[in-house]
Amino acid sequence: MRSRAVRASSGLLLTRQATPTSICSQCLRDELLLTIAPVIHSRKYHPSRRRDVSPIGAAVSAAQNLFTKGFPKPPPGVSVDPLRIVGKELKFLTKNIRKLLGSGHPMLDKVAKYYTWSEGKHVRPLLVLLMSQATALAPRNPHTHSSSISSQQQSYISEPISSPLVLSDANPDTSPLTAPAAELEGIFGEDPNILPSQRRLAEITELIHTASLLHDDVIDNAVTRRSSSSANTQFGNKMAVLAGDFLLGRASVALARLRNPEVIELLATVIANLVEGEFMQLKNTASDERSPVFTDDTITYYLQKTYLKTASLISKSCRATALLGNSTPDIVEAAYSYGRNLGLAFQLVDDMLDYTVNSVEFGKPAGADLELGLATAPLLFAWKSNPELGALVGRKFEQPGDVERARELVARSDGIEQTRALAQEYADKAAAALDILPDSDAKNGLLDMCEKTMKRRK
Ligand code: FPP
Ligand code: MG
Repeated sequence: MRSRAVRASSGLLLTRQATPTSICSQCLRDELLLTIAPVIHSRKYHPSRRRDVSPIGAAVSAAQNLFTKGFPKPPPGVSVDPLRIVGKELKFLTKNIRKLLGSGHPMLDKVAKYYTWSEGKHVRPLLVLLMSQATALAPRNPHTHSSSISSQQQSYISEPISSPLVLSDANPDTSPLTAPAAELEGIFGEDPNILPSQRRLAEITELIHTASLLHDDVIDNAVTRRSSSSANTQFGNKMAVLAGDFLLGRASVALARLRNPEVIELLATVIANLVEGEFMQLKNTASDERSPVFTDDTITYYLQKTYLKTASLISKSCRATALLGNSTPDIVEAAYSYGRNLGLAFQLVDDMLDYTVNSVEFGKPAGADLELGLATAPLLFAWKSNPELGALVGRKFEQPGDVERARELVARSDGIEQTRALAQEYADKAAAALDILPDSDAKNGLLDMCEKTMKRRK
């Protein structure tokens, strides 16, 4: 058996014996099947959905919005990225996240903030901010008393619920290790269409995502992340895991201070879902067979894992955004559907890029999934027409030549095209979910994210 970094690094978590046979509740299964069943059973490719506003129109509209707000005029022929709609807001994001992560323990402070110094895509906070703006223009729920709360009145999101004496009750009674609450002030951006609670939610999504990356890099024994040394390489596994835990702790505090139980429930569920998805990923199929056979359940299992591992954070944070903005129930559902479908498209494209781009462009090792023993969509679709892949999937591509053979069969099949088509179906569904929202630059920005997801190379 070829030795692999992922296994060598592992310990308990990665041993086959530790792999559970079934970890999914019926609820999770039902939730996911509702999402994926129409796609799996129709498995038709729909051409990209036509939108009322073309990408160029969206860019121009966003550009007009930006330039009327004091930005210099662009040179003729230069397009403007609609993501700049929330560009100003995003500038505050990393700064605020570092404030949320402040610790009096210098080493913990350093490791916890480590991934905030490298260039992340900030996809999740970006979506929360765009969704905040897009839903701000839609009808509000008149039945929620807080529908009239202004930005100023939301200063409570930085205020502790318990007594600060309790929250910093280091024992023995020396100076507290935690950052004082006062440090969290000054988080407010400028856009009146984004509530402070929604801005804080954007930060929380990035904290949860970064915590999962810290842990994921330990599990995958990753050497690099975002083209730099991974935290585990830099500081060792123990500190990387503990820093991830610390991020979750601070995210939980910030979440509690939003003082919205439904939002707390959603985001706490996301954290559990991330772990469930990662557990599912310890196996390639629901069965424990040595040489599994491809069935429809193979794709269902993969998509369920994909939802839990990636789409759950995006879907539930989009839902939480609409809830914090006191949107009407139909808008809450639309935001949720957008996030769920975009999240699935996002991970399918990620799994496709692992086969199609090189490591430099990808910003992380390409071709890593097979090396880690993972069978993702391109391989699963190739398996359908190449039964010999079953044995390789069953033994997680661990025999010499398995990875190369699997790559060859994927390249000779239509696995990549099928993955792209399925991702496009989800991206189109995400775009369709936005139909209910009034036209705005932010809505165009969300639509543009569907296109960017499909076109991205990293
Ligand atoms: C990246 O996957 C990892 C995730 C999307 C989720 C990882 C989740 C955990 C490790 C569970 C623990 C969760 C928390 C919140 C502490 P990838 O390996 O496919 O992507 P990569 O190539 O970017 O590493
Ligand atoms: Mg990884």
